Amino acid sequence: MWTKLDRIQRDIEELAKFNSTPGRGLTRFSLTAEDRAARNYLKKELLGCGLKVFEDAAGNLTARREGLLQDAPVVMIGSHFDSVKSGGNFDGPAGVAAALETVRVLSERGIDTLYPIEVVAMIEEEGARFGASLYGSRAMAGKISVAQLKDRKDSEGISMFDALKNFGFRPEDIAAAQRLPGSIKAFLELHIEQGPLLESEGLDIGIVGDIVGIQDLIIKLIGRQGHAGTIPMHLRADALNAAARVIAKISDLAVAAGEGTVATVGWLSVKPGGFNIIPGEAEFSVDIRSGKQAHVDTVTQGIADFLQEMTQGTGVQFEMTSLMKVEPVRMSAGIVAIETACCEKMGLKSRIMSSGAGHDAMVMADLTDVGLLFVPSLAGRSHCPEEWTDYGQLQKGVEVYLHTVMELAEAQL
Ligand code: GLV
Ligand code: MN
Ligand code: MN
Repeated sequence: MWTKLDRIQRDIEELAKFNSTPGRGLTRFSLTAEDRAARNYLKKELLGCGLKVFEDAAGNLTARREGLLQDAPVVMIGSHFDSVKSGGNFDGPAGVAAALETVRVLSERGIDTLYPIEVVAMIEEEGARFGASLYGSRAMAGKISVAQLKDRKDSEGISMFDALKNFGFRPEDIAAAQRLPGSIKAFLELHIEQGPLLESEGLDIGIVGDIVGIQDLIIKLIGRQGHAGTIPMHLRADALNAAARVIAKISDLAVAAGEGTVATVGWLSVKPGGFNIIPGEAEFSVDIRSGKQAHVDTVTQGIADFLQEMTQGTGVQFEMTSLMKVEPVRMSAGIVAIETACCEKMGLKSRIMSSGAGHDAMVMADLTDVGLLFVPSLAGRSHCPEEWTDYGQLQKGVEVYLHTVMELAEAQL
């Protein structure tokens, strides 16, 4: 193999050190000290490969390796380097390490490509700090406005706009992060599978054919705060009781939609929060996913209808806000064919599969042809401290990735 396992392992282990919750999984939120340290590590490595490093107005870190053609569109490679709260070491960094190792191999072997290559390490893919999932790629697709940056706030009330500014970026110029259609030849991402299929089927590589559509919502129920001992049940407007009914209904709606449709309430906030206080406010997140957009829409509409019906005459009011919506996307058939041929040539066992997880690749599909490769996840665990991928398996994925990039960028061998 051309790639080196020890370098890939070192990248993952070094990035894992930039963590605000050691001992409780990896937590690296966007625009924090841990983000800064991870960026510095990546910048140093990319500069070491002779690449020109820069950061866009959105805060994505990118690095360019020139091609032989002048003014040619770039082959963009990479993934994200932020994490969920108490997640694992591989979700995101595996793909950043794959891109880094790719340019290392090209540089050490002195391989020229016709098309330029750009490595990208995206921020806020998880939306863990600001609730702005897939933010880095959405900014590249021109889908983030200054108003949105001012509106999205972290748990301490700091807006994304202010956080970007304090970090040294120019959020007022967010439009400058937009990449124009035609300027990117292809986007290729490697990621851990985050599910159990590859491992259970004894396969090395997942070649993603499509990614599910995602709808992220915030629902707020506003009731009447009061004393837990003095107000009879029939005279209450209990925001959390109403929220509990909606949350139970959300699961039913996903099951009714069927065909693998899923819906998750992963975050809930109750105000003011106390044993002896009837909750005045309950706010929670909803994440709906399906390979069919119609199912995502049916569940979303079902929630809106239920909220209307259930709160009628109760004194509880509701607000439902859409934070993010991405439709299901297909990967480029041409890139799938290249990935398949690479696996066959290397004698690796692969299959075409769907991704139930969201990835920056799905947003980049608005701009260019995209490809997504999966490597196995131990016991299918992810978004948890136990998340793990065997380094040997990861290297196999990186090797397929490297050769796919060489084909897309037209390496001159
Ligand atoms: C990211 O991991 C997502 O699928 O939401
Ligand atoms: Mn993730
Ligand atoms: Mn990820």
